[in-house]
Amino acid sequence: MKVLVDRRDGVNAAVDATVSGVFERAEKEKEFPRALAREDSATGGLVKAAWDRKEIRGKRKEVTVVHRPGGKGRLLFVGLGPRVRYDAEVARRAAAEAVRALQGRGARTMAFRLPSFVTESTSAEAATRALVDGAVLGGYEFVRYKSSTEGGVEEATVCLGDDLVREESGLRQAVSEEATIADVVVWTRDIANLPADTATPERLAEEARALGKEMGIKVTVFDEKKLAEMKCGGLLAVGGGSSHPPRLIVLEYPGGARRGRTVALVGKGITFDSGGISLKPAPKMSEMKFDKSGAVAVLGTLRAAAMLKVAPRVIGVMACAENLPSGTAYRPGDVARTYNGKTIEVLNTDAEGRVVLSDALGYVVAQYRPDEVIDLATLTGAQVIALGDDTAGLIATDEKIASGLLSASKATGEPLWRMPLTDYHRELVKSHVGDVRNSTEIPVAGMLTAAAFLETFVGNTPWAHIDIAGPAWTSSLTRKYQPAYQNRGATGFGVRVLTRYLMDSARA
Ligand code: BES
Ligand code: ZN
Ligand code: ZN
Repeated sequence: MKVLVDRRDGVNAAVDATVSGVFERAEKEKEFPRALAREDSATGGLVKAAWDRKEIRGKRKEVTVVHRPGGKGRLLFVGLGPRVRYDAEVARRAAAEAVRALQGRGARTMAFRLPSFVTESTSAEAATRALVDGAVLGGYEFVRYKSSTEGGVEEATVCLGDDLVREESGLRQAVSEEATIADVVVWTRDIANLPADTATPERLAEEARALGKEMGIKVTVFDEKKLAEMKCGGLLAVGGGSSHPPRLIVLEYPGGARRGRTVALVGKGITFDSGGISLKPAPKMSEMKFDKSGAVAVLGTLRAAAMLKVAPRVIGVMACAENLPSGTAYRPGDVARTYNGKTIEVLNTDAEGRVVLSDALGYVVAQYRPDEVIDLATLTGAQVIALGDDTAGLIATDEKIASGLLSASKATGEPLWRMPLTDYHRELVKSHVGDVRNSTEIPVAGMLTAAAFLETFVGNTPWAHIDIAGPAWTSSLTRKYQPAYQNRGATGFGVRVLTRYLMDSARA
């Protein structure tokens, strides 16, 4: 979707639909809001009539269409709920509701009346970014395997109006940045949505190589032969059951600042997680094509980092393998020796994410000595139980990374919640046979014991782990409870928060 900026207020814009935000009216409030006066006169009083009939109530998710006389395009009114509870996330969702209401309804161009989304607590810039996100992400559909599609909005214009014109240059900058990020999320979703027969580890390597060519990023791919030489026993064990061999993919974005920090981003890239010999039950197993979402979000974040020329040097590492049962698959009881020499006692082949990440973390820490490491993984079902499918779990051994990520989370609306990591969790992952076990004896705090396991391979490097098992995708069942900017399938979760984190880390 193309996103533009216009200095006019948008009421008479030559677009198929003009969108205004409307706050919920209080119970006794009868008076027609002055904010809608321009729309009302443009329609010869039709907006006030709709208000009086309670067609426009300003409730969240409410979208009301009023047609301009003479077929000159529609006006859309999206509910923002009570003014006191309004924030940028409400705007993000409302913009997506508007775009979705127009999907397949003959609208190619739309305009947002920005002032109607700005309040004393939500700045024009915050509202602008939210509208761009909501419009681009809300309009997303995975259409690759559809023989026909309905089509939707292709061009959205943010209309400033007289009062905001003096902020024009800053808002143009915000639109261009945010449209870039939202486009990268779309790009990320398109890859994460690919099924496992197509998105093999080698295919993900090809995507990385293509990105490297396009953006001038150095890309190195280690195939199964190389992984054997490097003694990456974790990736080889997990990938051993599949005819699509594992890949360790490393991307290096050099950084926009001289002598900047080095941030390593590591992602779990299980192209399909059947559970292996510890086979998962059949219902919902198809969703495990999304078990590569962490690695694909790392790929997307590198794309955004290069496009926006962020200051830090960024190393992206994708740990890719397919977890299948077969005669060559790894088994419960096996011991894997990983890149940094530490050994893993495998007790459950379905706890494979941490096994592939062991090599990736050990490798990036030893080879690049990064200032910090952040990993992203659809790691545990326990994360979904603890925090649900909208909020990712954050475990950090470093206060600065944690606070940076939490403030980036606030700014972007990708929710993170910090969880503890203690010696109790570390105790639970000790092995009798090797250094660590990949599944604990007692089923407690699964998200945190998984983090304790990963910590073994990071050592003393400042580190944060983000478990995105829940937020990485929405299913048919969860979709209806999610914001309108999350369509069914992969969400691209992590790209927005990590990109914002990298952008802000220059200022820190
Ligand atoms: N990919 C799964 C985690 C997962 C489960 C993500 C549900 C999204 C939804 C992971 O590889 C896994 O199976 N983890 C096991 C670990 C257990 C065997 C220690 C889990 O969480 O059950
Ligand atoms: Zn698993
Ligand atoms: Zn998995």
